[in-house]
Amino acid sequence: MNVPVPNNLEAFWMPFTANRQFKKAPRLLASASGMYYTTVDGRKLLDAAAGLWCVNAGHGRREIVEAVANQVGELDYAPAFQMGHPKAFELAARLTSMLPKPLDHVFFTNSGSESVETALKIALAYQRARGKGTKTRLIGRERGYHGVNFGGISVGGIPTNRKFFGSLLTGVDHMRHTHDLERNAFTRGQPEYGAEFADELERIIYLHDASNIAAVIVEPMSGSTGVLVPPKGYLERLREICTKHDILLIFDEVITGFGRLGAPFAVDYFGIVPDMVVTAKGITNGVIPMGAVLCSSEIYDAFMTGPEHAIELFHGYTYSAHPVACAASMATLDIYAKEGLLTRGPELAQYFEDALHSLKGLPHVIDIRNIGLVGAIELRPIDGEPTKRAFSAFLSAYEKGVMMRTTGDIIALSPPLIVTKEQIDFLVSVIADVLKALP
Ligand SMILES: Cc1ncc(COP(=O)(O)O)c(C=O)c1O
Repeated sequence: MNVPVPNNLEAFWMPFTANRQFKKAPRLLASASGMYYTTVDGRKLLDAAAGLWCVNAGHGRREIVEAVANQVGELDYAPAFQMGHPKAFELAARLTSMLPKPLDHVFFTNSGSESVETALKIALAYQRARGKGTKTRLIGRERGYHGVNFGGISVGGIPTNRKFFGSLLTGVDHMRHTHDLERNAFTRGQPEYGAEFADELERIIYLHDASNIAAVIVEPMSGSTGVLVPPKGYLERLREICTKHDILLIFDEVITGFGRLGAPFAVDYFGIVPDMVVTAKGITNGVIPMGAVLCSSEIYDAFMTGPEHAIELFHGYTYSAHPVACAASMATLDIYAKEGLLTRGPELAQYFEDALHSLKGLPHVIDIRNIGLVGAIELRPIDGEPTKRAFSAFLSAYEKGVMMRTTGDIIALSPPLIVTKEQIDFLVSVIADVLKALP
């Protein structure tokens, strides 16, 4: 099937894309099914990135398609403020049942970025609601990605995502990142070294005093900056320090949520319970935009005071808990449950790990790391031309039938959770060919 290509690609300013390069040689997708995309010129591409870390159940899932179509016909939209619809409450209850107590309440958004802003705002408003209004500072981490809105880029730690956008939020500090190639290169699973990086938090708290700090936000595993797996003991230490100083701990699980680590959430994988969990992406299998922030009952209850007719939190989106997104999400959760996709770690993670690490020793490879069903291959950058080598690998893999993702000089792999061993073998053999031919 060949799909017509528009003859004017200029009008669309593409996000996070080298627009001029793309428009000279566009990579256009026409359809998708299961593990594969099909390009407009009819070529099949193995999806090694779950779209953008979101299509966890694979593409074109009939149950989701039907749920969305039925919902559009039945209730296309319901006002999100002062009105509700049953599926929003059903979905919220279902999500809270998937996470440990006390994460008992859900605030719906439409993306990861909105979920991050929501969590940060709830953190600030919570501290004030419980009479600790001086706790306003926020702490993020270098190489953290928390979306692209002002709060998210402020607590995030990616220089290129920050430097063009002025003074950002004030009152934000960053811990150092946990990537330590010298000590941890080629680690399978969690690295041995680096728990002590969490002690930076103590240093920052000492500097500002805990009475001025509202929350710490981290990705349990940093995805977008290249699959940075937390060192053993690191997250435990963060939790302890936050608890000791009465500071909220927020896990940004936009990538790790919904099965990516081979367990339903990073919360389950690492056995650590934060005060808020930020989600999006896999919540609807990427089909309809949606995000959700789960928070503890202690946080929720702090707002449930004052006159009953009064709004408790001045925050929300026109499309919070959109009926179509709720329907898509419930159908998605049904598939995850029916097919056991959120717990495929024990079955597949070891195979995936062995396959990836078989690439050790190939040209340019300076690290391979993995956890659950996510992995990364870090390449030595070309002198003076950072990112170019990995981007060339991306283009070459695309020509050979694999859509993967690169960030900096790192190849990141996060296939849909329906991936088979044969598909993992194909993926790894294509990457091996690409690396061998790469200048
Ligand atoms: C950890 C994390 N937080 C937030 C976001 C932002 O999500 P969105 O692009 O849906 O706004 C992402 C997106 O990749 C992410 O990986």
